[in-house]
Amino acid sequence: MKIIIVGGTGTIGKAVVKELSHRHQVIIAAHQHGDIRVDITDTQSIEKMYQTAGKVDAVISTTGKIHFGKFTEMKPKDYEIGLQSKLMGQVNLVLIGLPHINDAGSFTVTSGILSHDPIRFGVSGSMVNAAIDGFVKGAAIEMPRGIRINSVSPTVLTESMPQYGDYFHGFKSVSAADVALAYSKSVEGLQSGQIYNVN
Ligand SMILES: NC(=O)c1ccc[n+]([C@@H]2O[C@H](COP(=O)([O-])OP(=O)(O)OC[C@H]3O[C@@H](n4cnc5c(N)ncnc54)[C@H](OP(=O)(O)O)[C@@H]3O)[C@@H](O)[C@H]2O)c1
Repeated sequence: MKIIIVGGTGTIGKAVVKELSHRHQVIIAAHQHGDIRVDITDTQSIEKMYQTAGKVDAVISTTGKIHFGKFTEMKPKDYEIGLQSKLMGQVNLVLIGLPHINDAGSFTVTSGILSHDPIRFGVSGSMVNAAIDGFVKGAAIEMPRGIRINSVSPTVLTESMPQYGDYFHGFKSVSAADVALAYSKSVEGLQSGQIYNVN
């Protein structure tokens, strides 16, 4: 398969590239690095990425930013970060990607544990991750041409504990390599409309 991995230079993305690149042609798209540069907050940049890549069999997104902050201090502009980047950035990768994906292809997006297991300072993450999982369920039943869509919803990664560990006391972390298996299942399996929780 020809697979484009948006965010393929990141902590999760690199592990997904490692898992899939033995068996498939992988194109890495990212913001500053990778085979193709893309900004998921810019619809023209997404269109250009797909034009450059040509037709693909699978699109994987392992990207998207959210703001962590105290609920009583969160301003509308803080919510906008998650809405424009992690939520609409990934939704637009699907919408704009539809004409560029082959029949029976697949989209796999990334949400996260905060949708159903909230933490202090994580309100935007809870909101955005739940919206992504909702989008996947809704979109899956109307996808044309046998195209599938799933999301991967990981807990905190072991590799990210130095960065996020203080937010996730009491949570068991998972390795990026284990999280990557869920993307493999999504792309190489036949399921659609699934939320793959990796805890
Ligand atoms: N890490 C965790 O513990 C964890 C747990 C659950 C869910 N998640 C979710 O998983 C996703 C990836 O997390 P991560 O920790 O792997 O992130 P990361 O290491 O920070 O990597 C982010 C990736 O996204 C790319 N990127 C950044 N801004 C972009 C933009 N505007 N347009 C296109 N690409 C952009 C980066 O590209 P460059 O390298 O070129 O900058 C990089 O490839 C996020 O949605 C995160 O919320 C992460």
